[in-house]
This record gives sequence, structure tokens and C-alpha cells, in this order.
Amino acid sequence: MEKKTILFVDDEPNILSGLQRMLRPMRKTMNFQFAENGPAALEILANENIDMVISDMRMPGMDGAALLTIVKKQYSHAIRIMLSGQANEDSIMRTVGVVHQFLAKPADPVILKQVIKRALALQDTMANKQLGQLVSSIGSLPSLPKTYVKLQETLKDPDGSLTDVAKIIEQDLAMSVKLLQLVNSAFFGLYNHIESPSHAVNLLGLDTIKALVLVMGVFSELKIPANKFFDVNKLWLHSMATAAFAKNIAAHETDDKEIIDNAFIAGLLHDVGKLLLFSRMPEKYEQAVILANESHCSLEEAERQIFGACHGHVGGYLIGLWGLPGPAVESITYHHHLDSYPEPSFCPPVIIHAADCIYYQLNPENCIGEPQQLNEQLLENLNMLDHVERWVKLCKEIQARGGEDDGCNNN
Ligand SMILES: [Fe+2]
Ligand SMILES: [Fe+2]
Repeated sequence: MEKKTILFVDDEPNILSGLQRMLRPMRKTMNFQFAENGPAALEILANENIDMVISDMRMPGMDGAALLTIVKKQYSHAIRIMLSGQANEDSIMRTVGVVHQFLAKPADPVILKQVIKRALALQDTMANKQLGQLVSSIGSLPSLPKTYVKLQETLKDPDGSLTDVAKIIEQDLAMSVKLLQLVNSAFFGLYNHIESPSHAVNLLGLDTIKALVLVMGVFSELKIPANKFFDVNKLWLHSMATAAFAKNIAAHETDDKEIIDNAFIAGLLHDVGKLLLFSRMPEKYEQAVILANESHCSLEEAERQIFGACHGHVGGYLIGLWGLPGPAVESITYHHHLDSYPEPSFCPPVIIHAADCIYYQLNPENCIGEPQQLNEQLLENLNMLDHVERWVKLCKEIQARGGEDDGCNNN
């Protein structure tokens, strides 16, 4: 396979030389380029095929946000990663939709290598010809929900604030009602009652609010009347439950807020590919459902036979195009293919896989075809197989709480 090229941009020569040393063992499989400022990086980009740009945020002259905005416009195939010391609200606001992933600075060598390998593997999966053909045969992809687009616009505005975000949600009355119903539902397990969108934004944070607005928008835009092959309400409940399970499994194992938030976001969106496939190609999807039921295979396997790709890959493709964070895209893409996920650790894709499997263990009647089996070998390798019993118990408790509550009903 052709070697991939990664470009690092940092104004501190010491950091660049440190990276050079750190990455030496990876030189057999990858090429690295280094630039000390934005214009030098753009010159390299103009002359060479660059697969990934990893840039510092704070640089004199053109900063990381400005550089990656240009890269997005002119070299959209390149993966864009931002290295930043303290990711403050301002820099986050300016990089929404521009950056695939943030990495804390100084970069931990193990994490940096993982992020590079995973992002490149995802790029290859997405470049798969069959998947490309399938997605182009879907025709026009659903556009982002309007309120979500407005949110993104506000976040790009340097003067945008959390209050503005709340105001946009408030203007969409149906969305506000749904959001409050959802965040106050037992699945969320919040102790305070949330009274208003601004309260929700402040308490839950931007990423979670954005994901909620997105998932509510997608479900209402692609709304499909329930039929015997596809029950959209069941999928909605499954998505909410998987998100709640994933968040709690994550919080049980780690204090890392990013992992917990991304597990929740990915849980909400992990099966969005099913919605997309069914809404765009209902007859073919019916064939997949029939195949899964009759030949006792998993729905993912039947989708692969009928469409050439499963809902995970299709959903990951769409969510990637919409510019959601890398861990969410990876989780959606790999939740049925953990064996092809590079260097798994306890991270959102593994958490979503576990939450999804546990959901169908607890609710076998909701599964089409054979349920996916928990990847025990992988959990064993992570020394976590004996944690599963506790996770199942946690999920049962959440489900019992959620069952008493209809806040998650999509009607
Ligand atoms: Fe799935
Ligand atoms: Fe699922």
C-alpha cells in the first residue's frame, strides 16, 4: 500500500524535533513532513499529496484554526487534527466543522500514534469503492438539520456564545420541547430538573447538545412511518438506551470527560446508517431484513450481502461528511467491525460495541436477525472481560429507570 504522508505544523522547533524523534519508528510505514508556520505548511501542501495535517493552534501570523480552514477548503481529503494546550471556548468555537479531532499538547506518544493509525484506517475504509458507489446511489444525502446548521454558524462566529446557542434552540419550539423532554427523561439520570434550553446547554456542554440537536433533527427529517420491516420508534429508543448505556459504562471505567461525552454522542448516532438506508432504499432494506430473519444471520451481515456495506459504514460516512468528531465517526463506523479497528483501547468504539450488544442481550425481541456477539477476545486483551457483568447490571438499572419514563418516546 502507498505510504501516507503526515504534515506537522508547529512554530516551536523543539516540539518539531521532539515529534521527529518520537515518530522515527513509524517511518517504515509513513512519511512525515514538518513546517514551522502556516504559509510554509501551505507550500508543502501545494507540492505534495498530504493525507493528514496535525497543527498547533497558537502560532504567530496564521494560527492553526486559520490554516486548517484553508486546508479544509483546498485539500478536503486531508484529515485535520489540532494540537492545542488549553482548548478554550474561543478556539473551539472557531474550529467547529474544521477540525476532525483535538489532541492535548504535549502529545502523548502512545495516543498520538493511535490517533494517526486510526484516522488513516478510517480514511481507507471511507475510500472503499463499494461504499462510495453505495453512498452515491443513495442520491442526495440528507442535509444537516436546520437548527444544527444555525448552531454551527453561531459557533464559527468569534463573538458567538453559549447564550446564543441556547437562543437558537429556543427559536425552534418543537426542538426545545423535545430537548427538555429528553434531558429530563430517566435515561439521562440527571438529578436536577432542567428548565430551559440555556440551562441544558450550560449543564450538558456544547458537544452533547449538538449531538442531541443532530439526532433529533435526523430522526424527524428522515421520519418513516413504522412498518413491519422497520420500526423507527424502536430504533429511537434503542439509540437513546445505547447512548445512556455507553455513557454509564464509560463513566464507570474512566474520569476522562471526552471519552464519556463521545461515548454518549456515538451511542445516539451509532445506527443512523439504518435510518438512511431504509429511508432511501426501502425495498432493498426489506430484502435485508427478510434475509437476516430467514437465514438467521445478523442484520449487518444481510446488509453487507444486499448493499455491499453495513449500516455502520454508511452512517460513519455520513457523520464524517457532517464533520462530527473523529471518535464519534470511528465508533459509528466500527461498531460491528471491531476486528478491523486499529489498536483498540478502552475508547468509544469499544464502548458502543459493548453497549449495543448488552442492549440486545436485555431486549432480544427488538433484534432483527441474530444479535451481534460481544467481542470477548478483545475485552480479554484489554483486561476488561470480568467487568462485563458489572456493565450489564448497570445497564439493567438504567433500563429499569428508563422504562418508567416515556421521555424518550419519539412520538
Ligand atoms: Fe448497529
Ligand atoms: Fe445498535
